[in-house]
Amino acid sequence: MNVKNVLITGANRGIGLAMVRHLLECSTPPTTLVATCRDPAKADDLQKLAESHKNLKIVKLELKNFSDYPKLVETVKSYTGSEGLNLLINNGGTCEKKPGQLFGMPLEELDVEVFRDVLDVNTTAPLYLVKAFLPLLKKAAENNKSKPVGISRAGVVNVSSILGTMGGFTGNPDIYGYRASKAALNMVTKALAEDYKKDDIFFVAIHPGWVQTDLGSEAGYLTSAESVNHMFATLPTLTVEHSGTLVSYDGSAMEW
Ligand SMILES: NC(=O)c1ccc[n+]([C@@H]2O[C@H](COP(=O)([O-])OP(=O)(O)OC[C@H]3O[C@@H](n4cnc5c(N)ncnc54)[C@H](OP(=O)(O)O)[C@@H]3O)[C@@H](O)[C@H]2O)c1
Repeated sequence: MNVKNVLITGANRGIGLAMVRHLLECSTPPTTLVATCRDPAKADDLQKLAESHKNLKIVKLELKNFSDYPKLVETVKSYTGSEGLNLLINNGGTCEKKPGQLFGMPLEELDVEVFRDVLDVNTTAPLYLVKAFLPLLKKAAENNKSKPVGISRAGVVNVSSILGTMGGFTGNPDIYGYRASKAALNMVTKALAEDYKKDDIFFVAIHPGWVQTDLGSEAGYLTSAESVNHMFATLPTLTVEHSGTLVSYDGSAMEW
């Protein structure tokens, strides 16, 4: 990966934290890596990494606090100056979960507030973060005209899921909020790619595999480091033709 200014949401644990570790350790780390989390004071792993990596900036963000987004943009601007933001990774996510169940919740027990919360975090937040960061993404696209359209120039990666696809529909029951939110995120990715093609901004949705995290449970077939190694090998190879598509962590195309 060779990307100058990067922002990752939900970066204090799971896949987001593994992304931060990977980027800091790669041969050309970002000039600025903004890692957002809900409670920086409790983000021990990020704080430890920041002690030895001055390019890592930890910024507080509750994804449901949409009115905080303009302040976040100003903070990012204070780090990146006139360079803009090259890559926004909408990683933070949540799933309704009944205690004792891997994930999901039967409809009979799914309160409307819980359903709405999942949609807010998994769909509304990624879309409105794109809205907030459009000027900085456009700036990065403009500043890096010599680079091809893709994540190194100006791009958005939406961490999605096979559970939000019709093509990959499996029998797992009781995951209404999560499935709906990721299906909507996939559509949002496609629509954004069409609308901002004119500005040379790249958008992709990626399925990280089934990953051993709090959300994915211990049953996942990939560790978060393995998933991220695959995704960060795949993402730099994607071109303008992949904008507005859904890909799997290993680069294979996925059906909506
Ligand atoms: N694990 C899998 O098998 C799998 C499969 C497909 C897709 N995904 C997707 O991968 C992404 C990362 O998931 P993960 O497996 O790493 O899950 P995870 O370990 O549960 O981590 C979720 C992250 O999202 C953050 N988050 C949740 N709600 C938030 C909110 N309201 N505001 C701000 N941050 C919030 C969490 O912060 P807190 O620590 O503050 O809660 C945490 O940093 C998600 O988008 C998920 O849907 C995962």
